[in-house]
Amino acid sequence: MTRRILVTSALPNANGSIHLGHLLEHIQTDIWVRFQKLRGNHAIYVCADDTHGAGTMLKSEQVGVPVEEMIEQVRKEHVSDFAGFLIGHDNFYSTHSQENQDLSELIYTRLQAAGLIFTKTVEQLFDPERAMFLADRFVKGLCPRCSTDDQYGDNCEACGATYDATDLKNPRSVLSGATPVLKGSEHYFFDLAQYTDHLKRWTKSGAVQPEVANKLAEWLDEGLKAWDISRDAPYFGFVIPGTTDKYFYVWMDAPIGYMASFKNFAQSNNISFDDYWKADSTAEVHHFIGKDIVNFHALFWPAVLHGSGFRQPTRIHTHGFITVNGTKMSKSRGTFINAGTYLAHLNPEYLRYYYATKLNGTVDDIDINLDDFVARVNSDLVGKVVNIASRCAGFITKQFDGMLADQIDDESLWAHFTQASDEIAEFYEASDTSKAVRIITALADRANQYIAAHAPWTMIKEESRREDVQLVCTQGINMFMSLAVYLQPILPRMAQASAEFLKVAPFTWERAQTPLLGTPIAPYQPLFTRMETSSVDLMVEASRASTSAQPGDATEQTPDDSTISIDDFLKVDLRVARITAAEEVEGADKLLKLSLDLGDHQREVFSGIKSAYAPADLVGRLTVVVANLAPRKMRFGVSQGMVLAAGPGGEDVFLLSPDSGAQPGMTVR
Ligand code: MSP
Ligand code: ZN
Repeated sequence: MTRRILVTSALPNANGSIHLGHLLEHIQTDIWVRFQKLRGNHAIYVCADDTHGAGTMLKSEQVGVPVEEMIEQVRKEHVSDFAGFLIGHDNFYSTHSQENQDLSELIYTRLQAAGLIFTKTVEQLFDPERAMFLADRFVKGLCPRCSTDDQYGDNCEACGATYDATDLKNPRSVLSGATPVLKGSEHYFFDLAQYTDHLKRWTKSGAVQPEVANKLAEWLDEGLKAWDISRDAPYFGFVIPGTTDKYFYVWMDAPIGYMASFKNFAQSNNISFDDYWKADSTAEVHHFIGKDIVNFHALFWPAVLHGSGFRQPTRIHTHGFITVNGTKMSKSRGTFINAGTYLAHLNPEYLRYYYATKLNGTVDDIDINLDDFVARVNSDLVGKVVNIASRCAGFITKQFDGMLADQIDDESLWAHFTQASDEIAEFYEASDTSKAVRIITALADRANQYIAAHAPWTMIKEESRREDVQLVCTQGINMFMSLAVYLQPILPRMAQASAEFLKVAPFTWERAQTPLLGTPIAPYQPLFTRMETSSVDLMVEASRASTSAQPGDATEQTPDDSTISIDDFLKVDLRVARITAAEEVEGADKLLKLSLDLGDHQREVFSGIKSAYAPADLVGRLTVVVANLAPRKMRFGVSQGMVLAAGPGGEDVFLLSPDSGAQPGMTVR
């Protein structure tokens, strides 16, 4: 029977941009979903922005944009970033939706009817100036243990102590600077303790990875406490039924957002919501999450679902955190890289592939070593996989009218490719793409050895061996097809282009079982281009350049600006410049070295526009340069500024030019 599978990635917070960490999760999920679809299963992939909480409310006040408008802007940016990485969400919704409100109220009233909700007065720090209760990250003071100042209300960065915000010495509100006072308020609790035994069984049922089950067992053995699911007004969220000024805590309605996004999708696609969510559903529900939010997904969430009469997740797939060059992503090092910055410089399939080589279905952290990233992509994909097609296709097109031979030359070699199917599929199913990739690249090595051993480029010189050339290249093309099918979940764009080249689009998984014989192929077009170190350097520079507080910084919890002031803008010294010389740079595939005349002086900049412009066409042209950019030392020399160009990159780069009449040295505003 076809499996019906609902899949989710954790809902990104609506207070920042998508970065490499979120992408690890969405790429992992997308590979798994694409694999399921390719195998003929019925998979639906939904996500949404997580919009609620005091942070969203405060940020909207700060930027002066109504909150609903602000979260919709962010949602659009997230949708476009994910599309840029070929993430195939079937629906990317918002937790601030009617469906989510209805489901949150329904679940809450069912929990209440089941005797799982109680109230209790809680004493909390209250900002008398802002008239609001303060979450831990909105209070600072002296650490109660080591007295270091400027510590948040939950733990001390200096000595590592954890404590309650009420323990801070000399506390102050981050929002107003006022001294908070203690104030009591009635809170609503979900009685999680009743679920301790249930969760002990559930977490050992195979629903989570073994190492996650062990971690959860530590908490479960200590015994679970009731969970505070309410927050006081003012708050951005849903009002708790039966109250006027109590709101659901954001973590209460966020996972319900999975159901709501699915419901929104189901309604317009003729799919039954209940079929997936009723208590005895035979459909599967899979959540992909990071290790920091395991307690919400593997303790609270199954208990809330069970208590309200819905089904529980089939499996929670937990991944680790990413580091770049061995350390936490860092703005000053330029390794806090947002989706948009990456896409301005590099092909999304490079990252999809690199993550796939590293993901192994465990919670281990994953390091992106930028040098290894370039080396791995180029040696595996360009040097091994695509190389097979490019070495064989020319002969078929030029010598044999584009027709493949009608038999397989080396049956036993071909059998290695068909027989790998099940093992590769098992690794995809287990989210162990690193092993799937290892099998695929080992097959690619065999294919290259076969081609090298037969050397069609030598055989073609002897008329008597013409037929052998067609046989060898046909075998090569078929081995390439098999690899492209197996790689499709990871490299959907490359696979699609390959399927068109072989005139069999779209691929199915079974396509790798039957060779193409006696059929035509299209003339070969490059299926994948080399990754350039210079583009990585430019991406890191651009990430470093983007100013202080990044909206997407996971550690940056306080509200931040998404606009700049006119003063900020005026800091950028834009000047008209005339290009007086342009030349290629040895060892840099994308860069041109430009000599610029700025009226009163000359300078040199390196610019990544080589794929779009021949040096000779540039000489004499006017353009616009960022004149006060700090000089950047690059591998090839020092770049004294940056010329401005539009477009996504590659051949589509358009140098900015002022209208005629502008003179070198003029200020641009
Ligand atoms: N809004 C919550 C999730 C609610 S799910 C009902 C949240 N949002 S988040 O934007 O902070 O994180 C979203 C996901 O990205 C989480 O699974 C988190 O683990 C993951 N990552 C965020 N930064 C990460 C890294 N640096 N590395 C890997 N994944 C990380 O949590
Ligand atoms: Zn301390």
